[in-house]
Amino acid sequence: MSHFKCITQQVKNLKPSNNLLLKVYRNSNGKSRMQNFNFNKNVCGPMVLDGLIHIKDNLDKTLGFRRSCREGICGSCAMNINGKNGLACLTPLEPKMSIYPLPHMPIIKDLIPDMKNFYKQYSEIKPWLHTSKTGEIEHIQTIEERRKLDGMYECILCACCSTSCPSYWWNSDQYLGPAVLMQAYRWIQDSRDEITKERMEFVDDAMKLYRCKTIMNCTNTCPKGLNPGKAIGELKKKIEINLH
Ligand code: SF4
Ligand code: SF4
Ligand code: FES
Repeated sequence: MSHFKCITQQVKNLKPSNNLLLKVYRNSNGKSRMQNFNFNKNVCGPMVLDGLIHIKDNLDKTLGFRRSCREGICGSCAMNINGKNGLACLTPLEPKMSIYPLPHMPIIKDLIPDMKNFYKQYSEIKPWLHTSKTGEIEHIQTIEERRKLDGMYECILCACCSTSCPSYWWNSDQYLGPAVLMQAYRWIQDSRDEITKERMEFVDDAMKLYRCKTIMNCTNTCPKGLNPGKAIGELKKKIEINLH
């Protein structure tokens, strides 16, 4: 493309019909407000995360948000976009958007929620293999045993599901929420693990597990297409059969 054509193309791409309006939640020192940002969609990449990075680089360097992989793998860019929890790096920019942090979480700054309680709850389910086998011994599974972990091991712990769950909004101090419960079930279903009963006894609690009322917001929101609501249902059934 000639230099002249290239400039003409750039000007064409920056036409007003490509303008975006991002309304972004800001919060610092306990004070919250919405801030509007206008820019042309052709000055950045196609995703909401690209837009936020453009804002931070060019319009307001004080904007706070988390990101790392920009590939839907790390889970750190989870936020509430146009009323739905999702990953900023996997959500395309639209002409008008409202962007908030994950709902019902304490806020550190702007779009950065405090995840301490979520990670504390995750650590409580002991999310690692408990086995008496040591050294070089292989932990062999059949294809069927391994298949039981599909749809659960892929969870990136973004917390989109837990923070869309009304039960978690009101009882996150005791209710473990869908993300952590699905991971509890992931280890309960692991044929190599040797503390299955202890794991089931830990979650068998009116607040930790049975605050789930099968509303299914969790499954509807998962950006990885997983089904934590179904996993919780199966977990309840397994506990019913094995403990009660
Ligand atoms: S199914 Fe359970 S965990 Fe999922 S949103 Fe509903 S109450 Fe929450
Ligand atoms: S189940 Fe889905 S929404 Fe929930 S933490 Fe895992 S990846 Fe995120
Ligand atoms: S930046 Fe890693 S999931 Fe979005």
